Amino acid sequence: MKGIAGPQRRLNIHELLSLEWGDDMAADQRMMRKYPMIDDLIPVARRRVPRYAFDYLEHGAGRERLIQSNKIAFDNVRITPRYMRSLDGLSLSTNLFGECYDLPIAIAPVGMGSLIWPGAEMINARSAAKNNIPMTLSTVACATIEAMAVATEGRLWYQLYSPRDETIRWDLLQRAKAAGIDVVILTVDVPVPPRRERTIRSGLSVVPKITPGNVMRAALHPFWSCQVLRCGIPQFQNFTPYIPNGASFQETANFVRGQFGRSITLDEVKAIRDRWQGRLIIKGILHPEDAEAVVSLGADGVLISNHGGRGSDASPPSIEALPAIAQAVGKDAAILLDSGIRSGLDVLRACSLGADFVLLGRPFFYGIAALGRHGANHVINILRDELTHAMRQHGFLSPTRG
Ligand SMILES: Cc1cc2nc3c(=O)[nH]c(=O)nc-3n(C[C@H](O)[C@H](O)[C@H](O)COP(=O)(O)O)c2cc1C
Repeated sequence: MKGIAGPQRRLNIHELLSLEWGDDMAADQRMMRKYPMIDDLIPVARRRVPRYAFDYLEHGAGRERLIQSNKIAFDNVRITPRYMRSLDGLSLSTNLFGECYDLPIAIAPVGMGSLIWPGAEMINARSAAKNNIPMTLSTVACATIEAMAVATEGRLWYQLYSPRDETIRWDLLQRAKAAGIDVVILTVDVPVPPRRERTIRSGLSVVPKITPGNVMRAALHPFWSCQVLRCGIPQFQNFTPYIPNGASFQETANFVRGQFGRSITLDEVKAIRDRWQGRLIIKGILHPEDAEAVVSLGADGVLISNHGGRGSDASPPSIEALPAIAQAVGKDAAILLDSGIRSGLDVLRACSLGADFVLLGRPFFYGIAALGRHGANHVINILRDELTHAMRQHGFLSPTRG
């Protein structure tokens, strides 16, 4: 372990549970020297998390070709640099829906985040607040809307998987509103329950099964297991009010599973648009006509996404879908994008093709699994450094306006 002082000093629980780097700038620099890229965090993360939990984070649909294609498609985007320009006044800050954020980057919704690293939602929330970027809370998160709104200090976006039960649907939106949330992201790209072969092989369904093998794997990962003891078994925290008292773990999972994995029609999008008075972004758009349809219903933004390669292996990389959608939507709505972004240069690539804002999913969890409570902050530091460098190198004063 790094940075632990002399033998007379006793380690506290935080130091035991996450790599201890201290809280100062020197610690940030040490982390940057050791892990200057997001990819550097992956092997460390893999070692510290039981395989079934890491599979849950990593896995995709089918043969998982789209996960690779997402990255390759980014590698293939060229940005022709412009030199001989003054770079005075370069700024990464970005306005979206009347708010000014320090970066054009948000944390994507990741369901059951605490399964990957217990307490991950809270670590993301605090890092979002510290760095003035938005965090999106999944409908199936392991932390409540109310607690996350406080922890992000008002920078929380809420992702809605629209529940089959309308009472729950409207209650979730009402709770988001009461918590002060302005931005709701409605996910429409899960028309059937996901089929991910690696998940099936790992024996992981919506919630982990407690099998002797999984207990053994957990025991082999002491940092992770101690975090489970500290934070508790992950739960669908936002569903507690809707589940009958005394329901077992499995009954809860069946209840939650029964609410999702269905097609969200344009009529339902319209009903949600009519009901939600804040900003509405539709997530999972890959076709320009779908983008036009939701914008004509009043959506404030479209989030071009293939769910990080977790839906269909045959979908296009979202960065390839971006130019046609940007052209179709024009200035009528904000354009957001995720799936495969792994660097600040990728952020600039997306912005240079017309994205106003981007989201990243897995990278924040690689950071947290590798570095505990420092992980999300370190990922943001990497992205900020890389984006600044890429903007200078290519002659951009602002990420979204060359
Ligand atoms: C483990 C995991 C869980 C996810 N859960 C959700 C979710 O609950 N709701 C949602 O809209 N998207 C979910 N996503 C998709 C992400 O929001 C995002 O679209 C995707 O991770 C972006 O790709 P990237 O991981 O390559 O950055 C999940 C992704 C992962 C990896």
